[in-house]
Amino acid sequence: MPTLAIVGAQWGDEGKGKVTDYLAARADMVVRYQGGANAGHTVVFRGETFRLHHVPSGIFYPGTICLIGNGVVVDPEHLLQEIDELEARGIDTRSLFISDRAQVIMPYHKEQDRLEEEVRGDRRLGTTGRGIGPCYADKVARYGIRMIDLLDRASLAEALDRVLPIKNRLLRQVFHHPGFEKEVLLNQFLAYGERLRGRIVDTVTLVNEAAEAGKRILFEGAQGTLLDIDYGTYPFVTSSSPTAGGVSVGSGLGPTRLQGVLGVAKAYATRVGEGPFPSEEKGELGARLRQRGQEFGTTTGRPRRCGWFDAVVGRFAVRVNGITGLAITKLDVLDGFEKVRICVGYRYGGQVRRTLPTDLRLLAQSQPVYEELPGWEQTRGARTFSELPAAAQRYLEALADLCGAPIALVSVGYDRDETIVVRPDLLLL
Ligand code: IMP
Repeated sequence: MPTLAIVGAQWGDEGKGKVTDYLAARADMVVRYQGGANAGHTVVFRGETFRLHHVPSGIFYPGTICLIGNGVVVDPEHLLQEIDELEARGIDTRSLFISDRAQVIMPYHKEQDRLEEEVRGDRRLGTTGRGIGPCYADKVARYGIRMIDLLDRASLAEALDRVLPIKNRLLRQVFHHPGFEKEVLLNQFLAYGERLRGRIVDTVTLVNEAAEAGKRILFEGAQGTLLDIDYGTYPFVTSSSPTAGGVSVGSGLGPTRLQGVLGVAKAYATRVGEGPFPSEEKGELGARLRQRGQEFGTTTGRPRRCGWFDAVVGRFAVRVNGITGLAITKLDVLDGFEKVRICVGYRYGGQVRRTLPTDLRLLAQSQPVYEELPGWEQTRGARTFSELPAAAQRYLEALADLCGAPIALVSVGYDRDETIVVRPDLLLL
């Protein structure tokens, strides 16, 4: 039962798509367990770039079963476009299935997301505008719509009758929005259900049967630890649990069945949207990282904020996820830097803290404390750990030491073969 979770150890965009795609070569099943179309996983395959939002990054291997788990919020229109685009580019998507329990993103969720951000003004969260927060809120409020409802007119009509009176009253009276017509939504979403019929299944049984049969299963996280609804920099977070605890809730595999947790982190740090980021470099250095790392949002195209690797965040991520191995990506982006830095603590009020504070004001006003190490010329082209320049090896060893988990994999470029496996045992290879 080799089961491995791949989670983001920073603020998302760590390169989980590439790592999942790489490891999926030996996987029987790849499962998304949270998030929705706010995620943007970039995979380079056959020299072409693919951007996935719902579809698990295992889709490029024929025969690998790809599941969208119950913890995901699905935008059916968007998902169908994604499937159509993959098919048009020659990727077989017949092995893609969606949980019948997954919640559906409705047009009013996207409107609500946009309108709430508008009201927040300067206090906006910088969401992706995909309706993620309102959809998860409705799930918890118990008037969400589930994928299974799209398969039956009476069920969908009943679900809409539960939610629409409340939603329309909110939209019309608070936001002066015209609201949504039941018949229009009913027909539109039944049509999506028709197109997805056959793919909407009981994924909880599928994932457990696969585990019981000893299949290799990867769980692909979206976003990252610091965007987690519980552990992130609340309220500047997403509305789901990207951390390893979310795997069980979002897929139906019991927690004792998960064997390993791979924490993916970039060799530096980035963040999209608002919220504190202590090691952010706002000047020339940040611009250099952005340009070298092509740090622009996959989903929104927004330029990402860039800075040095934060080992306080790294250690926190190792703890809350129970990370058994680290995958360090985009090491090549630091090639050619004379010196590299790692944030090892936060200075605040004359004291240095080495743990992540809950108080955002404290975090925002903290000065990062750095450890400086010598840089290196080039990691691109290296295929083993020992082929890396000595200074790059020392940098990786420092990251492992400071975060408290061993390095399992290193990525030095976009391509599948620009990957260094350091500890195959930790990758369940
Ligand atoms: P939401 O998930 O659209 O509600 O956005 C909430 C916060 O999470 C915003 O700061 C987004 O920029 C951020 N976010 C959501 N998805 C991703 C992602 O896949 N990568 C990086 N940031 C994300």
